[in-house]
Amino acid sequence: MKSFCSKTSFLLLITLTLTVVYSEAQQCRPSGRISGKEAPSGQCNQENDSDCCVQGQMYTTYECSPPVSTSTKAYLTLNSFQKGGDGGGPSYCDNQYHSDDTQVVALSTGWFDNKSRCLHNITISANGRSVVAMVVDECDSTMGCDQDHDYQPPCRNNIVDASKAVWEALGVPQNQWGGLDITWSDA
Ligand SMILES: *[C@@H]1O[C@H](CO)[C@@H](O)[C@H](O)[C@H]1NC(C)=O
Ligand SMILES: *[C@@H]1O[C@H](CO)[C@@H](O)[C@H](O)[C@H]1NC(C)=O
Ligand SMILES: *[C@@H]1O[C@H](CO)[C@@H](O)[C@H](O)[C@H]1NC(C)=O
Repeated sequence: MKSFCSKTSFLLLITLTLTVVYSEAQQCRPSGRISGKEAPSGQCNQENDSDCCVQGQMYTTYECSPPVSTSTKAYLTLNSFQKGGDGGGPSYCDNQYHSDDTQVVALSTGWFDNKSRCLHNITISANGRSVVAMVVDECDSTMGCDQDHDYQPPCRNNIVDASKAVWEALGVPQNQWGGLDITWSDA
């Protein structure tokens, strides 16, 4: 009886350990933290609810995003990819600006996956609709609070940052643009 018990608990322990190791591998953990620096005056464009870094506040960085599925949960934000918009320079994928009237998005670093989704389409589902949008840029989860990032904090790791055209196509009322729980998949 004694040896049966210890064998059972041994097997249980192994199973538990494997389960923990497996779920750890599936999770996306922070890669670091950066300390916020305040933007020189006039350098952080706060139009369209862009966040500006707060001096001394700590921001978490990520090199990964949650695993992609046929229905990946994400948070939709609003960005302008036009020249002079709050997206900063031209898009990373094609070094071009994109009109706010085209359905384009930036993805968090992990999902951007070292440009592998560049100029590919994703399907965004929310509000009872599905909309196709092209990936043109990265929403950098690894760095922020510097001139290159318009003094904005690092992107969270679950962001689909979309043009106004995407919000319109989803049929979201304009006074609710800026933040919405969505799902997306590769189109
Ligand atoms: C703010 O959003 C509007 C509508 O999408 C756009 O026309 C404007 O260029 C944006 N401003 C900035 C600074 O991105
Ligand atoms: C990203 O892609 C480039 C070009 O294909 C490659 O040289 C580089 O090693 C890749 N970086 C990572 C982190 O995978
Ligand atoms: C992405 O979608 C657009 C508009 O539906 C289409 O014109 C384009 O060919 C698609 N691109 C890819 C790579 O599938």
